[in-house]
Amino acid sequence: MPNATYTFPPDFKWGVATSSHQVEGNNENNQWAAWEQETGRIKQGHQAGRACDWWEHAEEDFDRAAALGLNSLRLSIEWSRVEPEPGKFDEDALERYREMLQGLLERGLEPMVTLHHFSNPLWLEKQGGWLNIGAIAYFDRYVERVVRALGEQTTLWCTINEPNVYAVMGYLQGLFPPGQQDFKAMRIVLRHLLRAHGVAYRTIHRLQPAARVGLAHNLHIFDPAKPGNLLDRLAAGGLDLSFNRSILNAVWKGWWTLPLGFGPAWSLHHTLDWIGLNYYTRALVSFDCGARDTLYGRLSHAPDAELLDGGYGELYPEGLERALLRMARLGIPIYITENGIPDSDDDQRPRALLLHLHRLWRVLQGNFPIQGYYHWTLVDNFEWADGWTQRFGLIGLDPETGERTPRPSADLYAAVAKGNAITPELLDAYAPELREVLLPQ
Ligand code: BGC
Repeated sequence: MPNATYTFPPDFKWGVATSSHQVEGNNENNQWAAWEQETGRIKQGHQAGRACDWWEHAEEDFDRAAALGLNSLRLSIEWSRVEPEPGKFDEDALERYREMLQGLLERGLEPMVTLHHFSNPLWLEKQGGWLNIGAIAYFDRYVERVVRALGEQTTLWCTINEPNVYAVMGYLQGLFPPGQQDFKAMRIVLRHLLRAHGVAYRTIHRLQPAARVGLAHNLHIFDPAKPGNLLDRLAAGGLDLSFNRSILNAVWKGWWTLPLGFGPAWSLHHTLDWIGLNYYTRALVSFDCGARDTLYGRLSHAPDAELLDGGYGELYPEGLERALLRMARLGIPIYITENGIPDSDDDQRPRALLLHLHRLWRVLQGNFPIQGYYHWTLVDNFEWADGWTQRFGLIGLDPETGERTPRPSADLYAAVAKGNAITPELLDAYAPELREVLLPQ
Protein backbone atom coordinates (compact mmCIF):
# COMPACT_ATOMS: atom_id res chain seq x y z
CA MET A 1 0.00 0.00 0.00
CA PRO A 2 1.50 3.37 -0.94
CA ASN A 3 2.34 5.78 1.84
CA ALA A 4 0.38 8.57 0.23
CA THR A 5 1.13 12.06 1.51
CA TYR A 6 -0.83 14.71 -0.31
CA THR A 7 1.14 17.93 -0.18
CA PHE A 8 -0.27 21.38 -0.98
CA PRO A 9 1.52 24.31 -2.64
CA PRO A 10 3.90 26.24 -0.33
CA ASP A 11 1.93 29.50 -0.22
CA PHE A 12 -1.51 27.90 -0.04
CA LYS A 13 -4.10 29.80 2.01
CA TRP A 14 -5.85 27.80 4.71
CA GLY A 15 -8.76 29.70 6.12
CA VAL A 16 -12.24 29.74 7.55
CA ALA A 17 -15.15 31.80 6.27
CA THR A 18 -18.10 33.51 7.88
CA SER A 19 -20.46 36.46 7.48
CA SER A 20 -21.43 39.44 9.61
CA HIS A 21 -25.05 38.68 10.47
CA GLN A 22 -24.22 35.08 11.26
CA VAL A 23 -21.54 35.88 13.85
CA GLU A 24 -21.52 39.49 15.03
CA GLY A 25 -24.57 39.51 17.28
CA ASN A 26 -27.06 42.29 17.96
CA ASN A 27 -27.45 43.32 14.35
CA GLU A 28 -30.83 44.97 14.67
CA ASN A 29 -30.92 47.22 11.67
CA ASN A 30 -30.99 44.77 8.75
CA GLN A 31 -33.76 42.85 7.01
CA TRP A 32 -32.81 39.57 8.67
CA ALA A 33 -33.34 40.99 12.14
CA ALA A 34 -36.84 42.02 11.06
CA TRP A 35 -37.49 38.64 9.41
CA GLU A 36 -36.49 36.84 12.61
CA GLN A 37 -39.30 38.67 14.44
CA GLU A 38 -41.96 37.20 12.13
CA THR A 39 -43.59 33.96 13.28
CA GLY A 40 -42.73 30.89 11.27
CA ARG A 41 -39.85 32.34 9.29
CA ILE A 42 -36.94 30.69 11.12
CA LYS A 43 -36.88 27.08 12.27
CA GLN A 44 -37.97 26.72 15.89
CA GLY A 45 -38.36 30.50 16.09
CA HIS A 46 -34.62 30.94 16.55
CA GLN A 47 -32.95 34.34 16.33
CA ALA A 48 -29.36 35.35 15.68
CA GLY A 49 -29.30 37.19 19.03
CA ARG A 50 -25.76 37.59 20.28
CA ALA A 51 -24.65 35.03 17.68
CA CYS A 52 -20.90 34.43 18.19
CA ASP A 53 -20.48 37.83 19.84
CA TRP A 54 -17.94 38.99 17.25
CA TRP A 55 -18.89 42.63 17.47
CA GLU A 56 -17.54 42.61 21.01
CA HIS A 57 -15.09 39.73 21.05
CA ALA A 58 -14.15 38.55 17.54
CA GLU A 59 -10.49 38.56 18.57
CA GLU A 60 -11.02 35.55 20.82
CA ASP A 61 -12.09 33.51 17.81
CA PHE A 62 -9.25 35.00 15.75
CA ASP A 63 -6.95 33.52 18.41
CA ARG A 64 -8.63 30.17 17.89
CA ALA A 65 -8.20 30.41 14.12
CA ALA A 66 -4.53 31.29 14.53
CA ALA A 67 -4.05 28.41 16.98
CA LEU A 68 -5.35 26.05 14.29
CA GLY A 69 -2.43 27.16 12.13
CA LEU A 70 -4.59 29.02 9.63
CA ASN A 71 -3.22 31.91 7.59
CA SER A 72 -6.39 33.54 6.27
CA LEU A 73 -9.95 34.37 7.32
CA ARG A 74 -12.93 35.48 5.29
CA LEU A 75 -15.50 37.74 6.96
CA SER A 76 -18.06 40.25 5.77
CA ILE A 77 -18.86 43.86 6.50
CA GLU A 78 -22.35 44.58 7.79
CA TRP A 79 -23.69 47.35 5.58
CA SER A 80 -26.39 48.27 8.13
CA ARG A 81 -23.72 49.05 10.73
CA VAL A 82 -21.55 51.10 8.40
CA GLU A 83 -24.46 53.04 6.89
CA PRO A 84 -27.33 52.87 9.40
CA GLU A 85 -29.26 55.55 7.52
CA PRO A 86 -28.98 56.42 3.83
CA GLY A 87 -25.84 58.47 3.29
CA LYS A 88 -25.04 58.59 7.02
CA PHE A 89 -21.89 56.61 7.76
CA ASP A 90 -20.87 55.44 11.19
CA GLU A 91 -17.17 56.10 11.75
CA ASP A 92 -17.14 54.03 14.95
CA ALA A 93 -18.38 50.99 13.07
CA LEU A 94 -15.70 51.45 10.41
CA GLU A 95 -13.15 51.82 13.17
CA ARG A 96 -14.28 48.54 14.72
CA TYR A 97 -13.81 46.77 11.39
CA ARG A 98 -10.37 48.36 11.03
CA GLU A 99 -9.52 47.02 14.46
CA MET A 100 -10.77 43.55 13.51
CA LEU A 101 -8.76 43.43 10.29
CA GLN A 102 -5.71 44.68 12.14
CA GLY A 103 -6.29 41.92 14.69
CA LEU A 104 -6.27 39.37 11.90
CA LEU A 105 -3.07 40.73 10.40
CA GLU A 106 -1.35 40.69 13.78
CA ARG A 107 -2.20 37.00 14.07
CA GLY A 108 -0.85 36.15 10.63
CA LEU A 109 -4.34 35.79 9.14
CA GLU A 110 -4.83 37.47 5.77
CA PRO A 111 -8.32 39.01 5.68
CA MET A 112 -10.63 38.38 2.76
CA VAL A 113 -13.41 40.94 3.03
CA THR A 114 -16.88 40.33 1.60
CA LEU A 115 -18.89 43.49 1.05
CA HIS A 116 -22.36 41.94 0.81
CA HIS A 117 -23.33 38.64 2.35
CA PHE A 118 -27.15 38.39 2.25
CA SER A 119 -27.94 41.23 4.70
CA ASN A 120 -29.23 44.68 3.68
CA PRO A 121 -29.80 47.77 5.80
CA LEU A 122 -33.48 48.08 6.69
CA TRP A 123 -33.68 51.44 4.93
CA LEU A 124 -32.67 49.77 1.65
CA GLU A 125 -35.07 46.88 2.15
CA LYS A 126 -37.88 49.40 2.72
CA GLN A 127 -37.04 50.93 -0.64
CA GLY A 128 -37.47 47.56 -2.36
CA GLY A 129 -34.04 46.09 -1.66
CA TRP A 130 -32.31 44.78 -4.76
CA LEU A 131 -35.49 45.00 -6.82
CA ASN A 132 -34.86 48.72 -6.77
CA ILE A 133 -32.31 49.68 -9.43
CA GLY A 134 -31.17 52.43 -7.06
CA ALA A 135 -29.54 49.71 -4.92
CA ILE A 136 -26.64 49.60 -7.39
CA ALA A 137 -25.65 53.22 -6.75
CA TYR A 138 -26.26 52.88 -3.00
CA PHE A 139 -24.00 49.83 -2.93
CA ASP A 140 -21.31 51.65 -4.86
CA ARG A 141 -21.34 54.57 -2.40
CA TYR A 142 -21.05 52.16 0.55
CA VAL A 143 -18.27 50.19 -1.14
CA GLU A 144 -16.30 53.36 -1.80
CA ARG A 145 -16.54 54.32 1.85
CA VAL A 146 -15.49 50.88 3.08
CA VAL A 147 -12.54 50.59 0.71
CA ARG A 148 -11.31 54.05 1.72
CA ALA A 149 -11.60 53.06 5.39
CA LEU A 150 -10.16 49.55 5.24
CA GLY A 151 -7.86 49.69 2.23
CA GLU A 152 -4.77 49.74 4.41
CA GLN A 153 -5.69 46.43 5.98
CA THR A 154 -6.66 44.41 2.92
CA THR A 155 -6.49 44.19 -0.85
CA LEU A 156 -8.51 40.99 -1.10
CA TRP A 157 -12.16 41.86 -1.71
CA CYS A 158 -15.20 39.72 -2.43
CA THR A 159 -17.95 41.99 -3.71
CA ILE A 160 -21.08 39.90 -3.30
CA ASN A 161 -21.67 36.49 -1.79
CA GLU A 162 -23.78 34.10 -3.86
CA PRO A 163 -26.05 36.38 -5.89
CA ASN A 164 -27.84 33.22 -7.08
CA VAL A 165 -28.67 31.95 -3.59
CA TYR A 166 -29.78 35.41 -2.44
CA ALA A 167 -32.13 35.81 -5.40
CA VAL A 168 -33.51 32.27 -5.45
CA MET A 169 -34.09 31.95 -1.72
CA GLY A 170 -35.62 35.41 -1.30
CA TYR A 171 -37.56 35.79 -4.54
CA LEU A 172 -38.31 32.32 -5.91
CA GLN A 173 -38.52 29.95 -2.98
CA GLY A 174 -39.53 32.62 -0.48
CA LEU A 175 -37.48 31.11 2.35
CA PHE A 176 -35.31 34.20 2.88
CA PRO A 177 -36.57 37.76 3.20
CA PRO A 178 -38.58 39.25 1.57
CA GLY A 179 -40.25 35.86 1.07
CA GLN A 180 -41.44 36.36 -2.51
CA GLN A 181 -42.18 33.65 -5.05
CA ASP A 182 -41.92 35.52 -8.28
CA PHE A 183 -39.65 34.42 -11.10
CA LYS A 184 -39.60 37.83 -12.72
CA ALA A 185 -38.56 39.50 -9.48
CA MET A 186 -35.82 36.89 -9.02
CA ARG A 187 -34.39 37.73 -12.45
CA ILE A 188 -34.41 41.47 -11.77
CA VAL A 189 -32.73 41.05 -8.38
CA LEU A 190 -30.05 38.84 -9.87
CA ARG A 191 -29.33 41.27 -12.68
CA HIS A 192 -29.08 44.17 -10.26
CA LEU A 193 -26.71 42.26 -7.99
CA LEU A 194 -24.46 41.36 -10.91
CA ARG A 195 -24.46 44.91 -12.19
CA ALA A 196 -23.59 46.11 -8.69
CA HIS A 197 -20.69 43.69 -8.69
CA GLY A 198 -19.41 45.21 -11.95
CA VAL A 199 -19.70 48.76 -10.64
CA ALA A 200 -18.00 47.81 -7.36
CA TYR A 201 -15.20 46.05 -9.25
CA ARG A 202 -14.31 49.29 -11.00
CA THR A 203 -14.70 51.46 -7.93
CA ILE A 204 -12.42 49.26 -5.86
CA HIS A 205 -9.75 49.27 -8.56
CA ARG A 206 -10.00 53.03 -8.95
CA LEU A 207 -9.37 53.47 -5.23
CA GLN A 208 -6.85 50.69 -4.82
CA PRO A 209 -4.94 49.67 -7.95
CA ALA A 210 -3.43 46.63 -6.19
CA ALA A 211 -6.84 45.28 -5.23
CA ARG A 212 -7.79 41.70 -6.03
CA VAL A 213 -11.52 41.64 -6.52
CA GLY A 214 -13.76 38.62 -6.94
CA LEU A 215 -17.23 37.28 -6.32
CA ALA A 216 -18.28 34.13 -4.45
CA HIS A 217 -20.42 31.86 -6.58
CA ASN A 218 -22.37 28.96 -5.13
CA LEU A 219 -21.92 26.26 -7.74
CA HIS A 220 -24.58 23.67 -7.10
CA ILE A 221 -24.24 20.57 -9.21
CA PHE A 222 -27.39 19.40 -11.00
CA ASP A 223 -27.21 15.91 -12.49
CA PRO A 224 -30.08 14.21 -14.33
CA ALA A 225 -31.67 11.53 -12.12
CA LYS A 226 -31.78 9.25 -15.14
CA PRO A 227 -28.96 10.22 -17.48
CA GLY A 228 -30.66 8.33 -20.33
CA ASN A 229 -33.87 10.33 -19.97
CA LEU A 230 -33.95 13.37 -22.24
CA LEU A 231 -36.45 15.28 -20.09
CA ASP A 232 -34.35 14.78 -16.95
CA ARG A 233 -31.30 15.98 -18.85
CA LEU A 234 -33.15 19.05 -20.07
CA ALA A 235 -34.42 19.85 -16.58
CA ALA A 236 -30.94 19.46 -15.06
CA GLY A 237 -29.44 21.55 -17.86
CA GLY A 238 -32.05 24.27 -17.35
CA LEU A 239 -31.27 24.48 -13.65
CA ASP A 240 -27.55 24.55 -14.30
CA LEU A 241 -28.00 27.31 -16.87
CA SER A 242 -30.13 29.40 -14.52
CA PHE A 243 -28.22 28.86 -11.30
CA ASN A 244 -24.64 28.60 -12.53
CA ARG A 245 -23.90 29.32 -16.15
CA SER A 246 -25.89 32.52 -16.56
CA ILE A 247 -24.01 34.09 -13.65
CA LEU A 248 -20.53 33.07 -14.74
CA ASN A 249 -21.32 34.13 -18.31
CA ALA A 250 -22.36 37.58 -17.12
CA VAL A 251 -19.34 38.39 -14.94
CA TRP A 252 -16.76 36.79 -17.18
CA LYS A 253 -17.96 36.78 -20.77
CA GLY A 254 -19.97 39.97 -20.32
CA TRP A 255 -23.04 38.28 -21.76
CA TRP A 256 -26.58 37.92 -20.43
CA THR A 257 -27.77 34.36 -20.90
CA LEU A 258 -31.28 33.07 -20.29
CA PRO A 259 -33.04 33.31 -17.92
CA LEU A 260 -31.27 36.58 -17.08
CA GLY A 261 -31.76 37.88 -20.59
CA PHE A 262 -29.97 37.62 -23.87
CA GLY A 263 -27.36 39.98 -25.17
CA PRO A 264 -24.29 41.92 -24.16
CA ALA A 265 -23.47 42.88 -20.58
CA TRP A 266 -20.27 44.64 -21.59
CA SER A 267 -19.87 46.49 -18.33
CA LEU A 268 -19.50 43.11 -16.62
CA HIS A 269 -16.97 41.67 -19.03
CA HIS A 270 -13.92 40.33 -17.14
CA THR A 271 -14.90 41.96 -13.85
CA LEU A 272 -13.08 39.29 -11.88
CA ASP A 273 -9.49 39.06 -10.71
CA TRP A 274 -10.43 35.74 -9.16
CA ILE A 275 -13.53 33.65 -8.74
CA GLY A 276 -14.75 32.24 -5.44
CA LEU A 277 -16.29 28.80 -5.32
CA ASN A 278 -18.79 27.99 -2.59
CA TYR A 279 -19.37 24.27 -2.89
CA TYR A 280 -21.63 22.19 -0.65
CA THR A 281 -23.57 19.45 -2.43
CA ARG A 282 -25.35 18.34 -5.58
CA ALA A 283 -28.88 17.44 -6.57
CA LEU A 284 -30.32 14.86 -8.90
CA VAL A 285 -33.00 16.28 -11.14
CA SER A 286 -36.11 14.56 -12.56
CA PHE A 287 -38.45 16.36 -14.92
CA ASP A 288 -41.70 17.24 -13.17
CA CYS A 289 -44.24 19.58 -14.74
CA GLY A 290 -45.55 20.41 -11.25
CA ALA A 291 -42.20 21.68 -9.93
CA ARG A 292 -42.52 25.30 -11.04
CA ASP A 293 -40.33 26.74 -8.28
CA THR A 294 -37.40 24.68 -9.42
CA LEU A 295 -37.90 25.19 -13.15
CA TYR A 296 -39.70 21.86 -13.64
CA GLY A 297 -36.95 19.84 -12.07
CA ARG A 298 -37.78 17.77 -8.99
CA LEU A 299 -34.72 17.59 -6.78
CA SER A 300 -33.61 14.44 -5.00
CA HIS A 301 -30.42 12.65 -4.07
CA ALA A 302 -28.75 9.46 -5.24
CA PRO A 303 -30.42 6.38 -3.71
CA ASP A 304 -27.12 5.16 -2.24
CA ALA A 305 -25.95 8.61 -1.10
CA GLU A 306 -24.62 9.31 2.38
CA LEU A 307 -26.95 12.03 3.64
CA LEU A 308 -26.06 15.12 5.64
CA ASP A 309 -27.80 16.48 8.75
CA GLY A 310 -31.24 18.06 8.53
CA GLY A 311 -32.00 17.34 4.87
CA TYR A 312 -29.02 19.38 3.65
CA GLY A 313 -28.41 16.93 0.81
CA GLU A 314 -25.83 14.33 0.00
CA LEU A 315 -22.17 14.08 0.86
CA TYR A 316 -20.63 14.40 -2.58
CA PRO A 317 -16.92 15.33 -2.44
CA GLU A 318 -16.45 14.53 -6.12
CA GLY A 319 -18.55 17.59 -6.78
CA LEU A 320 -15.77 19.80 -5.46
CA GLU A 321 -13.41 18.43 -8.09
CA ARG A 322 -16.01 18.82 -10.82
CA ALA A 323 -16.82 22.36 -9.76
CA LEU A 324 -13.16 23.36 -9.60
CA LEU A 325 -12.41 21.94 -13.03
CA ARG A 326 -15.36 23.82 -14.39
CA MET A 327 -14.32 27.11 -12.85
CA ALA A 328 -10.74 26.55 -13.97
CA ARG A 329 -11.97 27.08 -17.53
CA LEU A 330 -12.21 30.79 -16.75
CA GLY A 331 -8.41 30.79 -16.56
CA ILE A 332 -8.24 33.03 -13.47
CA PRO A 333 -7.21 32.34 -9.86
CA ILE A 334 -9.75 30.45 -7.79
CA TYR A 335 -10.43 30.52 -4.08
CA ILE A 336 -12.68 27.95 -2.48
CA THR A 337 -14.49 30.63 -0.53
CA GLU A 338 -16.77 28.14 1.28
CA ASN A 339 -17.02 24.40 1.79
CA GLY A 340 -18.30 22.45 4.76
CA ILE A 341 -21.15 20.35 6.09
CA PRO A 342 -23.74 20.64 8.87
CA ASP A 343 -22.82 17.99 11.44
CA SER A 344 -23.55 18.70 15.10
CA ASP A 345 -21.98 15.49 16.45
CA ASP A 346 -19.05 15.60 14.04
CA ASP A 347 -19.55 11.99 13.04
CA GLN A 348 -19.19 12.78 9.32
CA ARG A 349 -17.16 15.96 9.15
CA PRO A 350 -13.62 14.63 9.68
CA ARG A 351 -13.96 12.10 6.87
CA ALA A 352 -15.91 14.54 4.71
CA LEU A 353 -13.21 17.17 5.20
CA LEU A 354 -10.47 14.81 4.08
CA LEU A 355 -12.48 13.54 1.13
CA HIS A 356 -13.04 17.11 -0.05
CA LEU A 357 -9.44 18.17 0.52
CA HIS A 358 -8.25 15.14 -1.37
CA ARG A 359 -10.40 16.20 -4.34
CA LEU A 360 -8.89 19.66 -4.09
CA TRP A 361 -5.41 18.15 -4.02
CA ARG A 362 -6.16 16.15 -7.16
CA VAL A 363 -7.16 19.29 -9.04
CA LEU A 364 -4.05 21.10 -7.83
CA GLN A 365 -1.94 18.43 -9.54
CA GLY A 366 -3.13 19.92 -12.84
CA ASN A 367 -1.43 23.18 -11.87
CA PHE A 368 -4.68 25.10 -11.80
CA PRO A 369 -4.31 28.40 -9.94
CA ILE A 370 -6.25 27.52 -6.81
CA GLN A 371 -5.05 29.92 -4.13
CA GLY A 372 -6.79 28.81 -0.98
CA TYR A 373 -9.49 26.93 0.85
CA TYR A 374 -11.85 28.53 3.39
CA HIS A 375 -13.75 26.06 5.50
CA TRP A 376 -17.30 27.00 6.43
CA THR A 377 -16.98 27.61 9.31
CA LEU A 378 -14.86 28.16 12.44
CA VAL A 379 -17.57 28.32 15.14
CA ASP A 380 -21.24 27.28 14.76
CA ASN A 381 -23.10 30.31 13.53
CA PHE A 382 -26.63 31.47 12.80
CA GLU A 383 -27.70 29.42 9.80
CA TRP A 384 -30.28 31.79 8.27
CA ALA A 385 -33.74 30.19 7.95
CA ASP A 386 -32.45 27.08 9.71
CA GLY A 387 -31.55 29.12 12.78
CA TRP A 388 -29.29 27.23 15.16
CA THR A 389 -30.48 23.81 13.98
CA GLN A 390 -27.63 23.35 11.49
CA ARG A 391 -24.13 23.25 12.94
CA PHE A 392 -21.31 23.95 10.50
CA GLY A 393 -18.55 24.76 13.02
CA LEU A 394 -15.20 23.12 13.50
CA ILE A 395 -15.90 24.41 17.00
CA GLY A 396 -19.31 23.91 18.60
CA LEU A 397 -21.14 26.83 20.20
CA ASP A 398 -23.81 27.01 22.86
CA PRO A 399 -25.62 30.16 21.69
CA GLU A 400 -27.15 30.64 25.16
CA THR A 401 -23.86 30.80 27.06
CA GLY A 402 -21.33 31.43 24.31
CA GLU A 403 -19.39 28.36 25.41
CA ARG A 404 -17.22 26.86 22.69
CA THR A 405 -16.29 23.20 22.36
CA PRO A 406 -13.83 22.21 19.67
CA ARG A 407 -14.91 19.22 17.63
CA PRO A 408 -12.44 16.54 16.46
CA SER A 409 -12.57 18.18 13.01
CA ALA A 410 -10.82 21.23 14.43
CA ASP A 411 -7.76 19.15 15.32
CA LEU A 412 -7.84 17.49 11.95
CA TYR A 413 -8.04 20.77 10.04
CA ALA A 414 -5.23 22.17 12.20
CA ALA A 415 -3.04 19.18 11.37
CA VAL A 416 -3.63 19.64 7.63
CA ALA A 417 -3.05 23.40 7.75
CA LYS A 418 0.06 23.18 9.93
CA GLY A 419 1.61 20.40 7.87
CA ASN A 420 0.29 21.83 4.59
CA ALA A 421 -0.45 18.21 3.73
CA ILE A 422 -2.70 15.24 4.29
CA THR A 423 -0.47 12.61 5.86
CA PRO A 424 -0.89 8.82 5.97
CA GLU A 425 -1.58 9.08 9.71
CA LEU A 426 -4.54 11.39 9.07
CA LEU A 427 -5.81 9.09 6.35
CA ASP A 428 -5.57 6.07 8.64
CA ALA A 429 -7.44 7.89 11.34
CA TYR A 430 -10.20 9.46 9.28
CA ALA A 431 -10.43 8.24 5.69
CA PRO A 432 -8.57 4.95 5.21
CA GLU A 433 -10.15 4.50 1.79
CA LEU A 434 -7.85 7.22 0.46
CA ARG A 435 -4.70 5.37 1.46
CA GLU A 436 -5.30 2.90 -1.27
CA VAL A 437 -5.22 5.46 -4.02
CA LEU A 438 -1.99 5.01 -5.93
CA LEU A 439 -0.68 8.42 -6.78
CA PRO A 440 2.75 9.79 -7.63
CA GLN A 441 4.61 11.25 -4.64
C1 BGC B 1 -23.85 30.79 2.57
C2 BGC B 1 -23.59 30.79 4.06
C3 BGC B 1 -24.31 29.62 4.73
C4 BGC B 1 -23.75 28.35 4.11
C5 BGC B 1 -24.25 27.06 4.74
C6 BGC B 1 -23.79 29.42 1.94
O1 BGC B 1 -24.67 29.33 0.88
O2 BGC B 1 -22.99 31.68 1.93
O3 BGC B 1 -23.97 32.02 4.60
O4 BGC B 1 -24.19 29.62 6.11
O5 BGC B 1 -24.12 28.33 2.75
O6 BGC B 1 -25.56 26.77 4.39
